[in-house]
Amino acid sequence: MARRSEKERRGEHYYKAAKSQGYRSRSAFKLKQMIKGHKLLKGVDRVVELCSSPGGWTQVLRELDPSLEIVAVDLNPMPPLQGVKFMQGDILDAKTMDSIKALVGGSADLVLSDCSPNVSGQWDLDVARQLSLVERTLSIAEEILSPEGKAIAKVFQGPGFEELLQDAKRKFNSVKLIKPPASRRKSAEIYLLVTGPKERKSEDAEPES
Ligand SMILES: C[S@@+](CC[C@H](N)C(=O)[O-])C[C@H]1O[C@@H](n2cnc3c(N)ncnc32)[C@H](O)[C@@H]1O
Repeated sequence: MARRSEKERRGEHYYKAAKSQGYRSRSAFKLKQMIKGHKLLKGVDRVVELCSSPGGWTQVLRELDPSLEIVAVDLNPMPPLQGVKFMQGDILDAKTMDSIKALVGGSADLVLSDCSPNVSGQWDLDVARQLSLVERTLSIAEEILSPEGKAIAKVFQGPGFEELLQDAKRKFNSVKLIKPPASRRKSAEIYLLVTGPKERKSEDAEPES
């Protein structure tokens, strides 16, 4: 019998764990691990979750802090979760930002983004599409985050990755890369953690003293 690859074994482990624990996605474990390792929910009241469907990450947020105010957005529908304001929309569409702002009703303390484009099978094209979703995440974060607010975005390490990091360093006070154990070691996927937008773009930004 052929030996199973690390990818298959890990995928199966988290698939089974997600099923038995009632999570909608295997990816829920990645968020759990990042929250624990980086104290991502400390001092957080409001969260904006981009690309949230089917809702595994949202379930984790709800479970870890039932009092969080959560606004979630995805191109696809998402089965409801108690107390979560969900909006179906394209984060690349400028109008979506206005709707997010209206739903949040102020600044957010945490922006999460686990976006993946529809995969074409062409690596360069898929990486470029994914990068544009990360760039959009960072500009939404700049616009909506509180001064000490944090954002996490899934990125694929490929063409344009270094430029993205440099851009993030220009825009945020702290930039880190995180690889949660539930993410396969060999996959190009990594999570960008940025903290504190240097220049808040939002209209309700507090004036500098
Ligand atoms: C890997 S899934 C997210 C899984 C989610 N974190 C969970 O745990 O259930 C990626 C999502 O990105 C969404 N997406 C891709 N492009 C988008 C866009 N332009 N605007 C909004 N959502 C988008 C897809 O519809 C898909 O649901």
